[in-house]
Amino acid sequence: MIKLFGNYAKIDTLNSTLLLQIVSGTCFKLHYGNHIKDDDDYTAIFDSVIDTYTSSDDTSYSNTMVSTTGDGNNIENMVRVVSDKNVFLTRFECLGFEVVDINTPYTNTPHALDKDETLKITYKDVVNNLTLYQYISTYKNSDALTFSCELVNSGAKTVFVNRLLSAQLDFEASEVTMHSLDGAWCRERNHNVRVVKNAKTSIESRSGFSSNLHNPFVILEVPNQGVIGSNLIYSGNHMEIVESVPVGRCRFLTGLNDYMMRYKLSVGESLATPEAVICYGNSLDDITSTMHDFVRNHIIRKEFRNKERPVLLNNWEATYFDFTHDKLVKLATLAHSVGIELFVLDDGWFGKRNTDNCSLGDWVDNTEKTGGLDKLSRDIKAQGLKFGLWFEPEMISFDSDLFRAHPEYMMRLPNVDPMEKRNQEMLDLANPQVVDYLVNALSDVFEKVEPDYVKWDCNRNMIDVYSQTLDNHGEYYIRYIRGLYDLCYRLVTRFHNILFEACSAGGNRFDLGMLYFMPQTWASDNSEASHRLVIQEGTLFGYPQSTMGAHVSIVPNHQTLFSTSLESRFNVASIGAFGYELDLEALPSEELETMKKQIKFYKEKRSLLQHGKYFRLGDLTHSNLGGWIVVNDDQTEAIATIVVKKMVYNSVRPRFTFKGLNKDYKYEVSMREQTNLKSTVSFKCYGDVLMNCGIDFKELFFSEVDRYQHGNSFASRMIIIKKVD
Ligand code: GLA
Repeated sequence: MIKLFGNYAKIDTLNSTLLLQIVSGTCFKLHYGNHIKDDDDYTAIFDSVIDTYTSSDDTSYSNTMVSTTGDGNNIENMVRVVSDKNVFLTRFECLGFEVVDINTPYTNTPHALDKDETLKITYKDVVNNLTLYQYISTYKNSDALTFSCELVNSGAKTVFVNRLLSAQLDFEASEVTMHSLDGAWCRERNHNVRVVKNAKTSIESRSGFSSNLHNPFVILEVPNQGVIGSNLIYSGNHMEIVESVPVGRCRFLTGLNDYMMRYKLSVGESLATPEAVICYGNSLDDITSTMHDFVRNHIIRKEFRNKERPVLLNNWEATYFDFTHDKLVKLATLAHSVGIELFVLDDGWFGKRNTDNCSLGDWVDNTEKTGGLDKLSRDIKAQGLKFGLWFEPEMISFDSDLFRAHPEYMMRLPNVDPMEKRNQEMLDLANPQVVDYLVNALSDVFEKVEPDYVKWDCNRNMIDVYSQTLDNHGEYYIRYIRGLYDLCYRLVTRFHNILFEACSAGGNRFDLGMLYFMPQTWASDNSEASHRLVIQEGTLFGYPQSTMGAHVSIVPNHQTLFSTSLESRFNVASIGAFGYELDLEALPSEELETMKKQIKFYKEKRSLLQHGKYFRLGDLTHSNLGGWIVVNDDQTEAIATIVVKKMVYNSVRPRFTFKGLNKDYKYEVSMREQTNLKSTVSFKCYGDVLMNCGIDFKELFFSEVDRYQHGNSFASRMIIIKKVD
């Protein structure tokens, strides 16, 4: 709820309050933290947090909602605009607050859906006459807010925007603990923690995509103030900055990366930022819970909101490029017999693609291999399976009919050989003609084949950023993402029942922008279970289970050569949008039997696993023990997976405490049947015992047969917790 009174704006969420006040043309943040009561005078807060003394320090003004190059603070700021003569100065005066309705429907610009109220703050730049609008929106039953800005050139001259970020939050604190999700291919979104003190730390992507290097999701723990979570509804270059200055202040900024940015704003034009989703809580668990609900209720499009996701089989690691119609149908038959619901044909079905150096852009069926995609789709659907198909729409190969017909569609600098990566080049999506081409090419296949699912891959980063259609390349990264979003929008609104899964060499573009169009994302090409534990723990800090594609693959794993038991691989993958990615024909019959039981169990518990309230147990990234628990809304049922990564002999047996249960309910605790479990454990106790006392599971973690078969393997157990009537 947003209340305006005097020169205050008070924004209340379920448990938090953001209190703003305009004083002498500056909008200050008086409080962002736990809920505070309505009052008509907050002078006591103002006097203690706003320090407007004039000194020679560069940090004399703090807790402002906007900062620029003209406000006297030479620390990181939010808005940088220059004139054609590179004059950097802007000076914003805050004109006032109003509550507005900007609840736009689903459009080609990803944004949070179903807003409740929005506070609009208007600023006037007295140097160039620009207008800046800042928007802060609330959401019913949520602790999250969204922040965004729009800069309008209401002046008389063209200006260039070198930076326009989405949000700024200042804190009176001499240090901040910053959590982020960082990584690389096959090691995406590892949870990292560092203290920022008297220094600046930034998390950035410059690859053109949100990237596997640094995800836009971050958490800040501010001493004596609480915990703040932040994410950006954007898929391109982003930056999240924390600057701590020795006087005892910290500033957080998030938004579009200003790398190679010089956005031209002619008179009358405007530039809007993506929305930042920001929430306040008292623990890391609070942030995870708020962000999960927010993604489920305000990012995922309505067709897939809280919808159960099918169990799939992807043929990539089963066949790679080497398949025929009959081989695929055989695989699908076997898949159906063990209970799989969706068969996905990955790379290699189009043009003359038998290796990765050709045919990208030629989305034309290779009938020699597929026997005709429409027939293949029919044959697979006739078995009772759904059918899915892989594309990599944003790419082009030199060796392709598309390049021969339209060399100008390629993203490349004139007169220079482009740099190849993974034997491929990128298409110039800043060119609207390329977007039109892709809409038509993909729509043709969708119409003919009627896929139920599409995997949208993107296997390289941008290097030679250039468009034959653009005058000012300081806008390229932004314009590419606009083209991509327009493409996605046109396809997903026309084919709205297709379940799209984003993928980018695994998880190189796992973000809220893609999730707005595509309700799930393949988390990583590394599906080896012990690495996946860490990748998934990181991912689930900010993204709910249903958005995270997770598969069981073969051992030894194709990426890491590690081996883990089939049961542990299932225990790990089943906390996501679940599937298998292996050659079923190569499996012994007892493993197929095990799979059958796993799938049956998954289907029975699917709603809880995909949409239940998730809590981390322990810390699998930085310690030997951990896991997770998912709990249903009325706390009558939960499933926990607990993991011991490495056996430490001659030490106290591993102990676990649980979360999210009802302390007053008595629960029955039992194990999921696992073929590698010799002994089992079951008992009854109250929720408070499960949550407060470390429970030891007796010999369970010592008795596993395949600890001996796979020496390097971890042990995992899935625990079913049910309220006793
Ligand atoms: C990427 C994806 C894989 C697979 C291959 C196909 O690496 O992440 O899952 O689709 O491309 O080339």
